[in-house]
Amino acid sequence: MNTQSPLSRRFGRAVAASGISALLAVGMLTATPAVAAPPRVDNPFAGATNYVNPDYAALVNTSIAAASTESAKRKMRTIQTYPTAVWMDRIAAIAGGASNGGRRSLEGHLDAALAQKKAGVPMTVQIVIYDLPGRDCAALASNGELPLTAAGLQRYKTEYIDAIAAVFAKPKFADLRITTVVEVDGLPNLVTNVASDPDCQLAKSSGIQVKAMQYALDKLGAIPNVYNYMDIAHSGWLGWDNNLTPTVQLYTDLVRGTAGGFGNVSGFATNTSNYTPTAEPFLTDPEKIVGGVPVKSDPKFYEYNPRFDESDFTASLYSAFVAAGWPADIGMIVDTSRNGWGGSKRPTAVSSSTNVSTYVAESKIDQRNHRGAWCNLSGAGMGAAPQASPAGFASSHLDAFVWVKPPGESDGASSTIPNNEGKAADPMCDPTFNAPVLMGQKTGALPNAPLAGYWFGAQFAMLVGNAFPAIPEAGGPTQPGDTTAPTAPTALRVTATTATSVSLSWTASTDNVGVSGYSVYRGTTPVAGATVIGTTATVPGLTPDTAYSFRVEAKDSAGNRSAPSAAVSVRTATSPGGGGSGSCTATYAVTNSWSGGFVADVTVTNPGPTATKSWTVGWTLASGQAITNMWSASNRISGAQVTVSNAEYNGAIAPGAAATFGFQGTGAGAAGSPLTCTATR
Ligand code: BGC
Repeated sequence: MNTQSPLSRRFGRAVAASGISALLAVGMLTATPAVAAPPRVDNPFAGATNYVNPDYAALVNTSIAAASTESAKRKMRTIQTYPTAVWMDRIAAIAGGASNGGRRSLEGHLDAALAQKKAGVPMTVQIVIYDLPGRDCAALASNGELPLTAAGLQRYKTEYIDAIAAVFAKPKFADLRITTVVEVDGLPNLVTNVASDPDCQLAKSSGIQVKAMQYALDKLGAIPNVYNYMDIAHSGWLGWDNNLTPTVQLYTDLVRGTAGGFGNVSGFATNTSNYTPTAEPFLTDPEKIVGGVPVKSDPKFYEYNPRFDESDFTASLYSAFVAAGWPADIGMIVDTSRNGWGGSKRPTAVSSSTNVSTYVAESKIDQRNHRGAWCNLSGAGMGAAPQASPAGFASSHLDAFVWVKPPGESDGASSTIPNNEGKAADPMCDPTFNAPVLMGQKTGALPNAPLAGYWFGAQFAMLVGNAFPAIPEAGGPTQPGDTTAPTAPTALRVTATTATSVSLSWTASTDNVGVSGYSVYRGTTPVAGATVIGTTATVPGLTPDTAYSFRVEAKDSAGNRSAPSAAVSVRTATSPGGGGSGSCTATYAVTNSWSGGFVADVTVTNPGPTATKSWTVGWTLASGQAITNMWSASNRISGAQVTVSNAEYNGAIAPGAAATFGFQGTGAGAAGSPLTCTATR
């Protein structure tokens, strides 16, 4: 958002660059000159590709291996192509390696982003700054490693922020757009939790956390290709009018107290790691009267908070910040990683109840029983895929939907698990706990969760299943760590049919070294009963005289799948088999089609037991169809009726064998009527 970087910084970079080119000009230096950082843009996500974290994709692989359905595996593969944020959740995360669970270092992530970057296309990398002294003061699940002391602040500055800034500022990364989310829940805790929580009270009165965040903003904001987004909770936390006002005041004072001022901040990040919907489709007017009272007054859920969702909240934040003197080019990012709330419990219409609480309960997509619940929520699903400038939210000034919380990583554990990260057991992660902050209701947490940040396979599978919109199914893997998917089979054709079965055959791709088998799909559904032998298959159990479309995919032993082959359409045979003297079966298969035309094959099969001498196949053309050219048979057309007779050389078909003729036509490919087939013997 901020387009003005301080002049001194621009000037400094310009001097350095021309200094190097001067030396190069006289032949004194052969080093590659540093890449000059492009000027900051308004929205760093617009027009950019985004870094896809291979460490996250590897975690998803463990869930793919455990997934029970092919469809779930394919959705998970899609998620492996989505960008998620990288959390610098402790000092050890900067260097990575053995002391940080074997994860790659911050520099390793930025190197990997450069490797993913296409020349000439900007790339964003999302990094979460999350190691505040006295972190997570109102909860226990994500307490951090740094104490709320002067010494803790000092370590935050030197060992954490300075170390991160040193990596961000490396000249080789100047061409990346590094976006940050600064200190999740840090300032929101100082807005609402000071009176109720002694730790937050001390966090505020000591001034340590504000100083830490000011240091982070100045240090990171001085790097021209870094875009800082300040975390600002979500509508269910700060959405009341009497919370919004002090919120805007606190953030504004904090930023005005930095050397770089508003120039340090590109905008705000809402809903980080939370579950609040972007929009409540059936609750659009908080002032609407139900049962004589406004919807927002519902004592069980909204409690007079008029901001029901993140689009309301971001719109209000934008106008309040601009009114407080912030530049008009600030933008918002919303974490949609877990705010979809799809699945079978999602309402499909507004309630007709005249009781306001029933009305809200039946109309809301948010399945929580209280908006204060936040830990591993049961029933949740992934929300909108990461995307720049999402349409439809003009007054919210959204730069992007982002997946800041990598879905599948736990929010916290309910029992103590020893660790050196400061993370503790949190009752909000205990499904049996009646939480006072939820008006004595249960937390809604999934049971048996690991520590915050660790992989929670059951949660991931649930989030995939309940995603809204549904996650598209990927045709094959694209992630580092996966083996290459096999190449799709070609030339799929129908070799025989009976009234209730179809035989298929196809050609294996010549570069398929690791193929371990094939799967037959009818439409997009795998055919369970297909018998596959080599590059042929028989599909039984079909309904007589019905049209089907089949495709085949190759798979390798690791479970990677090829893209599907081209489809073959087939109508099961009508003519009875059984070998009566006149019997044969004919199968009609469209082998290629395009707008306005097609090629089809018809296969004539002799069900035996004696050879045919000749055969005739008949059907009617569909409306708008014409045959332009036929081979391996001759035809007679009368109105829409087509009658085809064998060519001289293929009238004789041995028992169990088949002959094929083909033709090209105009119009759509499918036959207008079932085929008839008669033979002489
Ligand atoms: C945890 C972090 C983790 C992050 C993302 C937080 O709740 O405290 O350790 O990196 O979630 O999963």
